[in-house]
Amino acid sequence: MEVKKIFLPESELPRQWYNILADMPTPMEPPLHPGTGQPVGPEDLAPIFPMNLIEQEVSTERFIDIPEEILKIYTIWRPTPMYRAYNLERYLKTPAKIYFKNEGVSPAGSHKPNTAVAQAYYNKVAGTKRITTETGAGQWGSALSMACAFLGLECKVYMVKISFNQKPYRRLMMETWGANCVASPSTETKAGQSILAQNPDSPGSLGIAISEAVEAAVTGQDSKYSLGSVLNHVMLHQTVVGLECQKQLALAGDYPDVIIGCCGGGSNFAGCAFPFARDKINGKDIDIIAVEPLSCPTMTRGPFAYDFGDTVKMTPLMPMHTLGHGFVPAPIHAGGLRYHGMAPTISQLLLDGVIRAEAVPQLETFQAGITFARTEGFISAPETNHAVAMTIREALKAKEEGKEKVILMNWSGHGLVDMAAYEAYLRGKLSDHALPEEEIHRALNEIADLPKPKQYRPGAI
Ligand SMILES: Cc1ncc(COP(=O)(O)O)c(C=O)c1O
Repeated sequence: MEVKKIFLPESELPRQWYNILADMPTPMEPPLHPGTGQPVGPEDLAPIFPMNLIEQEVSTERFIDIPEEILKIYTIWRPTPMYRAYNLERYLKTPAKIYFKNEGVSPAGSHKPNTAVAQAYYNKVAGTKRITTETGAGQWGSALSMACAFLGLECKVYMVKISFNQKPYRRLMMETWGANCVASPSTETKAGQSILAQNPDSPGSLGIAISEAVEAAVTGQDSKYSLGSVLNHVMLHQTVVGLECQKQLALAGDYPDVIIGCCGGGSNFAGCAFPFARDKINGKDIDIIAVEPLSCPTMTRGPFAYDFGDTVKMTPLMPMHTLGHGFVPAPIHAGGLRYHGMAPTISQLLLDGVIRAEAVPQLETFQAGITFARTEGFISAPETNHAVAMTIREALKAKEEGKEKVILMNWSGHGLVDMAAYEAYLRGKLSDHALPEEEIHRALNEIADLPKPKQYRPGAI
C-alpha cells in the first residue's frame, strides 16, 4: 500500500533550531539606526525587544537549543505530518513526487505558532507583561494570542483594516485566546492618526500596522513588540519545520530537487528551506523557490536596498528587497503576503543565488487552491495557494521534461477562516492586479535618499 503520511514520533522533535547566519556565503550587512544611519547596537533595540531575543537576532551559532518549556508546547501539534500528494500527482499526470509539510495542523492553523510560542516564552523570561503586534491575514495575530494565553501575557493586535473586515472570525479567535484586536490604522496611536488624517479610507498595510504596534510597545508599560516574520530570530524559530522535513524525507528514502514556499516576510519559506539551503551551500543541487504575489513583487521587481520595516519609519533600516515603506499593495486576499519588504537573510540568499524568486497572479493561486482541495482535500490559506500554484507549475514542468523530480512544498496554513475569499473566487468576483511601474517608482522615490548597502541592486523595473 502507498504510504500517504510520514509521521515522526514526539521523541524525534528537533531539540535545536538551525541558524543560517552561521553559513551565509556572503556576510550580512548590518541594520542601521533610523536616526543616525549607523549600525544598530543591542541597546538601540532594547525598547522594542527583550535582550534574550536581541541576542538571538545577532547570534551566529549554528544550532541553538530549544528550551524545554517551548518543546512541551510544541508537542501540542509538532512534529507535523508530511504528506505525499499522490492524488495531485495523478491528476497532473506528472512523474514528479510531490511532498507537502502540513503546518496547518497547529491550533491557530499555520506555521506562525512556531515562533509565537518562542517569542512569548523569551518575553516572559525577560519580565515582559504585555506584547503588541501587527497582523495581516490574522494568522500571526491568532498564533501570538494563543502563545500569550499559554504563557500568561497580555496581547494587543493591530490588524490590517482590509483583513479585519474580510476575516471577522480571525478577530474572534484572537479574542477567544484572550487578546485585544483593533483595526489598523486605528485612532489609538499617533502613527494611526497620521495615516487616517492623510487618507481616512486607508485599507491599511502591514507597514502601517507595524508602526502602530511598535509605538504601542515603546509607550506602554512593561510592553514589548513582537514581529511574526522578517527578523533573523523568527526565521530561526521556524527552522523546526525544515529540520523535521529532513528526517521525514529520509524516512521516505527521498531528497528534494525542488523546495517551494510562499513569501510574505519569508518565515514559512525560510523555516522549510534554510536547513536544506545549508546543504545547497555545501554543494547539493536543489532549486529553492520563494513565491510572492504578482501584485506585491518585492523580490522579483524591488531593489536590494536599505529600507524601513514599517511605514512611519520607526524601525531600523534593513538591507532587503523592498518596494518602499510607503507601498500599499492591492487588496488581494493573501493578506499575509502584502508586505513591502523581505527578510534580510532571504534577500541576501537571493543575491547569492542560493534561492530564486517567482511571482504568481491571484487568480492562478485560487485555481491552484481549488485543484489542491479537490485532489488532496485540504483547503489552503490564500497565502499558501501561492506555493501550491508554484508546485503545480513545477510538477507540469517535470512532466514536460520527463523527470521524476522530488518536490517539497511547505503547506503553511489552512484556509478554513478564509472562505469569503474562496466565495469571491467561485462567484467570479476576483481579479488579477497588474502593478503599474509608476506605482513602484513612486514608492521607491521615498527611499532614494536612504543609505545604500554595499551590494545595492536596483530592482528589475
Ligand atoms: C498561512 C500563511 N502563510 C504564509 C504567510 C506569509 O508569512 P511568512 O512569509 O512570514 O511565512 C502568512 C502570513 O500571514 C500566512 O498566514
